[in-house]
Amino acid sequence: MQSRTILSLMILSSLTAWATPGAARTVAEGREKAAVCAGCHGEAGKGATPLFPKLAGQNFKYLSKQLRYFRDGTRSVAAMNAVAAGLTDDDIAALSAYFEAQTPQPEAGEAPAEGERIYRSGIAGKKVPACSACHGPEGQGNAPAGFPLLKGQYAAYTVKALEDYAQGVRGEEKTPMRDIAARMTEAEMKAVAAYIAVLK
Ligand code: HEC
Ligand code: HEC
Repeated sequence: MQSRTILSLMILSSLTAWATPGAARTVAEGREKAAVCAGCHGEAGKGATPLFPKLAGQNFKYLSKQLRYFRDGTRSVAAMNAVAAGLTDDDIAALSAYFEAQTPQPEAGEAPAEGERIYRSGIAGKKVPACSACHGPEGQGNAPAGFPLLKGQYAAYTVKALEDYAQGVRGEEKTPMRDIAARMTEAEMKAVAAYIAVLK
């Protein structure tokens, strides 16, 4: 019995030894490739100015999908289309692994009640569902589904993202965000964005 335990421990540790350096190498490769991103997205994607979204802690699946969208033009933003045009699939995987491994950087401040209500309960009578249903109770996203992490994001960027969805000018046509954002007023977008920015 004891030797079987030792044997399975040996198998387990050899699997771990095999798995870890691969992931670590991808993150290390991503760190090198991410040097050019820091000018706009800040050190380790933690944000430099509200003009550009934070990337730190965003999930791999969402990041790699958005980078492919920028590369093929499904998501049209001149600065990012130019950056993504030169990325290979391997670059996208390494960059996504690197930013996923960074710690999100929330803004300081109090959580506004109106924004919290929208985030947790949606907007009654307007068919706006609770954001938490897909983006998680703490705004952490849903990594296996590729639903983005929102917590800590600059409010100005979140409002712009919601406006772009509402106008149908962002990303793929079939995203649920288009209908959701189209049902929201500017004031509702600002309220929920202010709440998201201080979520930890
Ligand atoms: C010249 C400035 C600039 C540089 C350099 C830049 N970006 Fe961006 N990036 C932007 C802007 C602007 C947006 C916001 C697009 C929008 O408004 O929808 C963006 C958005 C993104 C997004 C989408 C974030 C989200 O939450 O949907 C990802 C992912 C991204 N950039 C990754 C990168 C990576 C990786 C690099 C480096 C290889 C990089 N960016 C370099 C300006 C830049
Ligand atoms: C049914 C699931 C679902 C619900 C409910 C939902 N979202 Fe989303 N959200 C998504 C998905 C999926 C995406 C990614 C779409 C894409 O690829 O552009 C997304 C993207 C976003 C983005 C862009 C993030 C970024 O980094 O650019 C914002 C902002 C956002 N949602 C805010 C909200 C808010 C605010 C609510 C509540 C009013 C909400 N979402 C409700 C599924 C959902």
